[in-house]
Amino acid sequence: MSNVPQTMGQQHGRRSWAEPWKIKMVEPLTVTTREEREKALVEAGYNTFLLRSADVYIDLLTDSGTSAMSDRQWAGMMMGDEAYAGSRNFYHLEEAIQKVYGYKYIVPTHQGRGAEHLISQAVIKQGQYVPGNMYFTTTRLHQELAGGTFQDVIIDEAHDPASLLPFKGNIDLNKVQALIDKVGADKIAYISVAGTVNMAGGQPVSMANIKALRALCDKYGIKIYLDATRMMENAFFIQQREEGYADKTIAEILKEFCSYTDAAWMSAKKDNLVNIGGWLAVNDWDLFEELRNLVVVYEGLHTYGGLAGRDLEAMAIGIEESVNDQHIRSRIGQVLYLGELLTSWNIPIVQPVGGHAIFLDAKAFYPHLKQVEFPAQVLAAELYLDSGIRSMERGIVSAGRDPKTGDHHYPKLELTRLTIPRRVYTQAHMDVIAEAVKAVYDARETTKGLKIAYEPKYLRFFQARFERLP
Ligand code: F0G
Repeated sequence: MSNVPQTMGQQHGRRSWAEPWKIKMVEPLTVTTREEREKALVEAGYNTFLLRSADVYIDLLTDSGTSAMSDRQWAGMMMGDEAYAGSRNFYHLEEAIQKVYGYKYIVPTHQGRGAEHLISQAVIKQGQYVPGNMYFTTTRLHQELAGGTFQDVIIDEAHDPASLLPFKGNIDLNKVQALIDKVGADKIAYISVAGTVNMAGGQPVSMANIKALRALCDKYGIKIYLDATRMMENAFFIQQREEGYADKTIAEILKEFCSYTDAAWMSAKKDNLVNIGGWLAVNDWDLFEELRNLVVVYEGLHTYGGLAGRDLEAMAIGIEESVNDQHIRSRIGQVLYLGELLTSWNIPIVQPVGGHAIFLDAKAFYPHLKQVEFPAQVLAAELYLDSGIRSMERGIVSAGRDPKTGDHHYPKLELTRLTIPRRVYTQAHMDVIAEAVKAVYDARETTKGLKIAYEPKYLRFFQARFERLP
């Protein structure tokens, strides 16, 4: 594998990277005993979402809302203009999104799923299809609740954890064409493109792919909407891996990519470096009018969208900071460093390493467990027990049930995600994490499965409870 930090340094003709910040304030971490963790895990029904964070040592549950803000962002929080309407912070946010992403009209929302809700309600008609490059949990659910049917059009290799393709997030244009031929362009609400693809392991979409998709969609008058949640990271992979982009900045690449799409929604809790926030950005005035109207019903007035003025300001500043090349390089550098360590110990992870997380291949950890014994949920539980590190299941539990048949979806990928928060942990933490994963891997043969004890109706992975099988 060439995706190691040193290689990144060499590619740029420089020495190793380091975090482009120093630490001004610290938050102590708690270390617990194995006995305490056993108790906490049973109380949480073997679901890491139900653990209290006070019982967690290194928290890799998600990179969502877990970033450390900069001193500039904190200063911006003090400049919150808490007016109900027309807060000055909204105009800062609008300018930042227009400048960095290039879309014309902006609607703030409280977080990503707020934006997904509005756009799904605004554009999906009952019975339409929504092709996308692999599902994301909340995205697909909002598309379904609006009457749509999600159709996976990602390339086949995305479902293979061992495939080394550089752009495993790409859309398979033949699959899109086949769907158009089968149901007709009118039956397609829009193409739902995510960069990077979370459930595929943080895998990027290439510029060539989005350009080709644009050409295909133009033939049929189909819109492309972008889930821009981790587009900064996608831009970095284009810079590193795609011919013709090595000398372009993240800012230039991001803007070019967005220019091939018609609108975007955002969970600003990721790339935009804030603890809460989201937005919609569109180029079409009529769609903007519809979204601006809907936001008042579900989120708040169109100049605050469920957020405080100070949150809008932190987001505007976060956007500028997040498009900085040094920031992205060290952010992904941490992830690659951890991936390289695990790979050097032959621990099965999704390759190539993606932007925001390491995805452990739970099927390869536990070949003796059936998928209905929830191997990725088991792995998350074992990692917590061993070390107090909290990770997340991204397999059969996350995939949920088929709304028509009621049976589980059986995703090919059965993964446990070690998600790295932005600007929060250091290289030494990455070493500790790798050693904990190794200990769990070494004990894999005697590890037992789980069964469901309680299952909620929607997005079950958040609140389901499990028991150990004998
Ligand atoms: N789209 C993607 C690709 C996401 O990863 C998420 C959230 C959302 C949309 C929804 O945004 O949480 O702000 O409402 N992903 C988080 C995660 C929860 O842990 O991967 P949200």
